[in-house]
Amino acid sequence: MNPLLTRLTVAGRSLATVTVDSATHSMLIWVVMIACIAGCSSPQAEDISGAIPIRLERGDPERLLRFYVGSYVGETGGDPVLAGVLEERENSWFLRHPSFWQEVDTSLQQLYRDGLSAEEISKDLMDSFLMSSYYFARRAPQAIEVWRENLGDWTSLEKWLSIDVKGSMSPFPRRVAIKRSAVLSALNQVEEIESPILYPVGTAVIGEHFSNGFVVETTIMQKRSDGFWDFFAYDDEGQLVDRVQKQPDDMMVPIRCTGCHFGTRQYEPERSFPARVEDGPDGPRFIEVAEGLRNASIVSTLQEHAKRSDILLGLYGTIYLSEIAQRISRGEATSEEIGLAFKFGIESASQ
Ligand code: HEC
Repeated sequence: MNPLLTRLTVAGRSLATVTVDSATHSMLIWVVMIACIAGCSSPQAEDISGAIPIRLERGDPERLLRFYVGSYVGETGGDPVLAGVLEERENSWFLRHPSFWQEVDTSLQQLYRDGLSAEEISKDLMDSFLMSSYYFARRAPQAIEVWRENLGDWTSLEKWLSIDVKGSMSPFPRRVAIKRSAVLSALNQVEEIESPILYPVGTAVIGEHFSNGFVVETTIMQKRSDGFWDFFAYDDEGQLVDRVQKQPDDMMVPIRCTGCHFGTRQYEPERSFPARVEDGPDGPRFIEVAEGLRNASIVSTLQEHAKRSDILLGLYGTIYLSEIAQRISRGEATSEEIGLAFKFGIESASQ
């Protein structure tokens, strides 16, 4: 008979790790179960079946956990609770035993093994696990060329909305591009002005960072089917990298990307747009758009940066609608654009 490694856990505390044969192992499980039925009122039965507590040191870790662990579910991200991976009990989150998991990337087994030996999944453990396997689980393209082949040329201004910005995310000026068709569908699906602006699954936003006229790094976010966005970074040669340059510490992907994008803080220069702002720690801060596109009434109607309804922080809907308003006043708008402007109460639409 094969010896089995068994940890006795009672009332959440590991009592001992012992090596036993499988007959003794089954007997021990019975003994512990009977002891529990007899005496324990705390919900330890699940711990016997192998659930590991997760402690991310955050008031509400649910969103972060759903993004992190959902990254290992299905091909384009999935619900980790439905997939049998995560479980909430009495406001605490647990990683369930792998025998409950469905459609989960095998790399998640490592988190279970590490958690089992540490007896909990701490923030540090979760961070280092993600840094070792997130890109692998997300099948991140090794070269940015693959994105170009799939998405087309994002420097083509006919299909892409492109905005030059220098702000809080990077010490470099960024050129951020998103497909016009994606912004249009996001605006089209808004029913009430207050409703969130949600982008279609698969939407990609590309941020190229410039220094001396060259792209020195590129960040990409892509919307998954579970509603979260994946984060990626590429270096000056277009190779996948796990960090983005920033002082005092580089930002690691994805663990440092969630901070601002999941938070509620507002950043300059988006917060003050269409007004301009003074220089920041890395020099000038700006959003460069043509003068006619600094439309204060659309900014306040959409409140896009403050709402960050789809965790995007840029002003794509605002600038797109401002372009439409401009086309309307020049008599160049299509009927679809006029309808859209009307829905958002843009004045020139009714003229
Ligand atoms: C310090 C806060 C902060 C952190 C941390 C941060 N971002 Fe951003 N990010 C922003 C802001 C503000 C914008 C909007 C303005 C801009 O594009 O610079 C933005 C925009 C973006 C965009 C364009 C889509 C959008 O939301 O408008 C991408 C892509 C992006 N960030 C990727 C990343 C990646 C990858 C990481 C992690 C390495 C990251 N971000 C970390 C603040 C942050």
